[in-house]
Amino acid sequence: MTEAWTSEKIRQTFLDYFEARDHTVVPSASLVPQDDPTLLFTNAGMNQFKDVFLGTGTRPYTRATDTQKVMRVAGKHNDLEDVGRDGTHHTLFEMLGNWSFGDYYKKEAIAWAWDLLTRVYGLASDRLWATFFKDDEGDLGIDEEAVHHWRATTIDPRHILPFGRKDNFWEMGDTGPCGPSSEIFYDRGPAACDRQTIADHVCRVNGDCERFTEVWNLVFIQYNRHASGDLEPLPAQHIDTGLGFERLVALLQDQTSNYRTDLFWPIIERVQVLVGQTDAQREASLVPYRVIADHIRAVTFLIGDGVLPANDGRGYVLRMILRRAVRFGRTLGFTQPFMSELADIVVQKMGQVFPELPARIDFIKATILGEEKRFLRTLDQGLGRLEEIIDEVKTEGATEIPGDQAFFLHDTLGLPFEVTRDIVLEHGLTIDEAGYQAEREAQRARGRAAGAFELEADVHAQLYPQLQAWIQSQTPKWELAYDPYGALEVGTRVVALLCDDQIATIAQEGDTLELVLADTCFYVESGGQVSDTGRITGPDWEMTVTEMRRPIEGLIIHVGHVIRGTPRVGDAVTAQVDEVRRRDIMRNHTATHLLHRALREVLGSHVQQAGSVVAPDRLRFDFNHNAPMTAAQRARIEQIVTEVVLADELVTSRQESYREALSQGVIALFEEKYGETVRVLRVGEPAHPLSEELCGGTHVARTSEIGAFLILDEEGIGAGVRRIEAATGRGALDAVQTLRERQEQTAALLSTPLEELPQRAARLLEELKTAQREIDQLTRKLARADFQSLLNDVIEIDEVPVLTAQVDVPDADTLREMADWFRDKMQGGVIVLGTVVDGKPLLIAATTNQMVERHNLHAGNLIRQLAEIVGGGGGGRPDMAQAGGRNAAKLPTALGAVPDLVREMLSTKH
Ligand code: SER
Repeated sequence: MTEAWTSEKIRQTFLDYFEARDHTVVPSASLVPQDDPTLLFTNAGMNQFKDVFLGTGTRPYTRATDTQKVMRVAGKHNDLEDVGRDGTHHTLFEMLGNWSFGDYYKKEAIAWAWDLLTRVYGLASDRLWATFFKDDEGDLGIDEEAVHHWRATTIDPRHILPFGRKDNFWEMGDTGPCGPSSEIFYDRGPAACDRQTIADHVCRVNGDCERFTEVWNLVFIQYNRHASGDLEPLPAQHIDTGLGFERLVALLQDQTSNYRTDLFWPIIERVQVLVGQTDAQREASLVPYRVIADHIRAVTFLIGDGVLPANDGRGYVLRMILRRAVRFGRTLGFTQPFMSELADIVVQKMGQVFPELPARIDFIKATILGEEKRFLRTLDQGLGRLEEIIDEVKTEGATEIPGDQAFFLHDTLGLPFEVTRDIVLEHGLTIDEAGYQAEREAQRARGRAAGAFELEADVHAQLYPQLQAWIQSQTPKWELAYDPYGALEVGTRVVALLCDDQIATIAQEGDTLELVLADTCFYVESGGQVSDTGRITGPDWEMTVTEMRRPIEGLIIHVGHVIRGTPRVGDAVTAQVDEVRRRDIMRNHTATHLLHRALREVLGSHVQQAGSVVAPDRLRFDFNHNAPMTAAQRARIEQIVTEVVLADELVTSRQESYREALSQGVIALFEEKYGETVRVLRVGEPAHPLSEELCGGTHVARTSEIGAFLILDEEGIGAGVRRIEAATGRGALDAVQTLRERQEQTAALLSTPLEELPQRAARLLEELKTAQREIDQLTRKLARADFQSLLNDVIEIDEVPVLTAQVDVPDADTLREMADWFRDKMQGGVIVLGTVVDGKPLLIAATTNQMVERHNLHAGNLIRQLAEIVGGGGGGRPDMAQAGGRNAAKLPTALGAVPDLVREMLSTKH
């Protein structure tokens, strides 16, 4: 065996070998089977060709080869329990395969497998063994054909052995394509046996030790297994082979364990560095290393194929595998997340062959990290509880952990059954798996009964009913109370916690938390009034409350961050609303009712509320009305509200039947839904109320608490709908102070007393206008003076006055005007002016008809030659022509060329 057999080379050699034999190299299918409800995960290379075998689908080729990612952790093929405990089983592995769809058959399949293993890969032929099918349960007979083709190779004839249905009849699942198989084994020699100490153990092919390793399975697909159990012969015969890639790599790299190959070892080394163990320590605790190295590959690939941690289906397998690895990590000493970092190594190693991994690396890592954090939150509790259960069972002299206890650990503390089983086995005990499954099934049925099942797609739609059901299942029973109308502080208890959308019993500092209290005085957004904020203080912890939610009726959630300590379910707490903020909100809410009343009084009784927002700093009130408010109306409304404020009216509420309230003319809003009993909010004495509205919000006790009321803005927001923004109390003060500050700044800038500001501003505007007029006149005067001075630059060529100049003007029109002006002043002659407009050169040439006739000084001819110099074109009348170009830098050259050109034109006169 040579060093040169890297895993990359081994894989490529396989694909090349079959490609050279007319096989089409196809990509690996996803781990999530497409359109096959019979499979949880892709469990064999042939899955993606199932339809071809059954004759229901075709491909544009009859021979194919690939490397397929597969998982065998559920159903007919489940290797999970062996993973980590030996060196040859994995949750996720690669299966190299070659296929014939009704094309070649046993002869080629056997001959090529033998040739590739012995000649190309160089495995010693005397170490190889082959099996064939000999029916031991029915009438399928002996696969003589396979024996015949094996004898045609150089294999030792004593190494060809028959086996029955259990070992040599391959089936994809309970149904689907199947057939007899022929397996190839490699004998690693007696030293590889891991069961030497067991009495009566004999190393043999299809035995239970590691000496004979199954390497390659050649399946001769001939039947379709029906759900009834019947085997139906297929219309054509096919080849389906699967070569265990990791095992082949171990053989070619001369390793006894797959974990010591270049596929896994880099992960193991990284784990060792992260936990800081010596080589000797590592060798003493290989199982956790192996489990982690295996599981991180599976986790990375699963998320790469779109599977997310969940409580059932594929998501459960992912969650379970990840948590199993984290638990094994804990035995090595990891207390912090470590798995997401290992994903990098997997992706580096496998990214070339499986491009979906590098493409999704960030998502993969974030998902792993999130799930690790979630698990770490409950892991200690789960492990602690399990230790207690184990102690109790041992004390009782029993050996089995009850199923309902395992279910409790799984369901409440997030400890997957498989993790509990690992630990229980480590204690030499067993677990009542049937009891656990029964509990799980019962819970599923409860979920379905609660109607949560249909909404599976929406995590939250499921989560909150689940949380509510969980709360209701607790003893003693909680009575949840919501009273935002009384005191702003309440002593109560934590009933439930949610972290990252999971029911938890404990949270950590820094966590974002959703928390349910037995009693709360925090208002939850409703009827336009925003939610309260505040804080909750436990025995040794504190959290902020930044948001409130009522996801379903009867469940009120406080959302915030843990700023100190460790909140737990059951803790006694003090919940405190931010009082200053809440009082501002109450002022604004009562003022909203007063505004509503004043609008109806001033604009008319047609005014109806169309929406509102009651926040601490302002209130917003939308209502139907067709015209903007005049300044006088606005002032009147402020005045009416202020009078009620000053009258210090009483604000009270009462519960009443909806019907009764309406019959008394209480204002109700169209879009609101009201229950049988409603809360009526009244301002004023019962005998002559000023305002009565149905309202669930919180209000001041007397109107004088509002302090001040000020409209800040009024605008139209749609056909017939207007919006008012207003402020009360501190908000109004803020608004007035800001206004005054601006006025004072303006007055200071204009050096004027505040009360004279308008006159001063008007006077300044007048002065500005006069000044602008003067500037215009002066500018024109200056320009003329400039032109005048240019006249000094006029030169004479053969007695013809010539002026060339580069000037600064904004456009071609001004340039033309200038040329005209010079032509007048110079009484004939030649004028060429150039300028740059928007980065482009512009030239104009002017002369007179007399010059044209007498001296042949044609402006058009002249300009065309100049245009060439600036990289453009031009033309015009004989006495005035214009050119544009691209190269502004050449403008001086063009102007400099004018005297010579004029001289030349003059010399060629007739
Ligand atoms: N389908 C067979 C197996 O998975 C051969 O590819 O073992």
